[in-house]
Amino acid sequence: MTAAALVSDVVARLGDTRLVVVANREPYVHVKHVRQPGLVGRMVGRKATTRFSWMQPASGLVTALDPVMRACGGTWVAHGSGSGDRATSDAAGRVAVPPDEPSYTLRRVWLTDREEEGYYYGLANSALWPLCHIAYARPVFDEHDWREYVEVNRRFADTVIDEIGDKRAIVFVQDYHFALLPRMVKAARPDAVVCQFWHIPWPNAEAFRICPWGDEILDGLLGNDLLAFHIQYHCNNFLETVDRTLEARIDREHFAVHRGGHRTYVKPFPISIDPGLWNSVASGRDWTRDVAATRKRLGVGEAKLVMGVDRLDYTKGIPERLQAFERMLERWPEWRERVVFLQIGAPTRDRIDRYHALGEEVKAQVDRINTRFGTKAWTPVLFRHEHHSPEEVGAIYRAADVCVVSSLHDGMNLVAKEFIAARTDELGVLVLSQFTGAARALADVVPVNPFAPDEFAAAIDDSLRLAPDEQRRRMRNLRAEVLSHTVYDWAGTLLSEACRLADVRR
Ligand code: G6P
Repeated sequence: MTAAALVSDVVARLGDTRLVVVANREPYVHVKHVRQPGLVGRMVGRKATTRFSWMQPASGLVTALDPVMRACGGTWVAHGSGSGDRATSDAAGRVAVPPDEPSYTLRRVWLTDREEEGYYYGLANSALWPLCHIAYARPVFDEHDWREYVEVNRRFADTVIDEIGDKRAIVFVQDYHFALLPRMVKAARPDAVVCQFWHIPWPNAEAFRICPWGDEILDGLLGNDLLAFHIQYHCNNFLETVDRTLEARIDREHFAVHRGGHRTYVKPFPISIDPGLWNSVASGRDWTRDVAATRKRLGVGEAKLVMGVDRLDYTKGIPERLQAFERMLERWPEWRERVVFLQIGAPTRDRIDRYHALGEEVKAQVDRINTRFGTKAWTPVLFRHEHHSPEEVGAIYRAADVCVVSSLHDGMNLVAKEFIAARTDELGVLVLSQFTGAARALADVVPVNPFAPDEFAAAIDDSLRLAPDEQRRRMRNLRAEVLSHTVYDWAGTLLSEACRLADVRR
């Protein structure tokens, strides 16, 4: 499905029903720039001047839903986190977006430092994130964080209810930041259709039962009419968790939970990407020149290029992949001076100790490998601990021989799909962790268990030796899969299901 098909399909089905999206991240961020007096010749002695700019975060969710919102004129409720957000919004936190062509409403919710600390850094990212990802990182359950999480969910829910007004509405909630909100909205507005997409895995019942607020979280999520995960396995885990925890009837034939007279469907909707964004032909770029320029900029010379690009998150298996690369250099010394590993680690959540520690760990590991194997002419590992634009990442995808995605656990993983979409030349090899949602549909990868260093080292070695014909055969199959299941199919099927539920209500 294309963006245009998604838009016309959803807009026709919605009719006069209001679409309200709730996500922690906003689709447009305003940034404040202050120019201090005295810094620029002519400005000496004058007052400081302030100017605002805006940007759209590089996010698959924004890519998929922004065109729908533009066409149906709904409301997006999100945390106003930009330095220029307050000054560009009205008293209620509303701002018309896109800023250069206003067509829908962004309603910003303001959080105090304390709320952000407890709700976002605390409960969402120090408790639920490690609880749902089996990466052997112990969740931190803190009563203060929980109270802030409840409070922030309440504030977002009140904002959603306010935005619905007296209209019929479909509320589309995103992710683990809002496990309690669906019940809160549903209690106030039983007529609204509430759907949620949980972008991360759902663990098995055994792992989930350590959560002190498990009952409340499940009850909150069962306020949804539709709860969606990436894959059937996570749906099954969720149903099993409910079955073991609450008094409820599980309808395994229709994948639904019945509780207190309400039904919640629990179904898989695998998310994807917009292939057009990663397709160099579509953007009119010259492949060969692009690749040569990127390799030159990186200084990799004639060496093979293995790459990884992730948020610097402990679930992504970055130390594990560096260890595997190191082991490969030990076991197959012929690769020395003939291969470079480029790791891009986008800074993320670094106010949380564990994320900060991971940054230090990776830096130390890179230094150690480079000291151990590096020569005057060759640096085995390049580590870029900074944000890269989609254009820069696209260029690196195209220049790489091998892309490594080694998450210890991942709901889907879009890097895997982006790499495939970028390879219009049908070359390149994807090494993919078997513990990602993406691995379920992508058969022609080199599968890897990131917890097994020797096997992992051999997988990178195999990938580097794969003949171009075999690379082409595999990449064609992978591309057929990714190009036929885009993020627009994801949004289209999910929103159609929501509209169907809304019709049933009528
Ligand atoms: C994951 C989550 C998203 C989140 C993203 C970036 O993909 O599922 O909800 O937005 O990580 O993390 P951040 O904490 O920066 O929003």
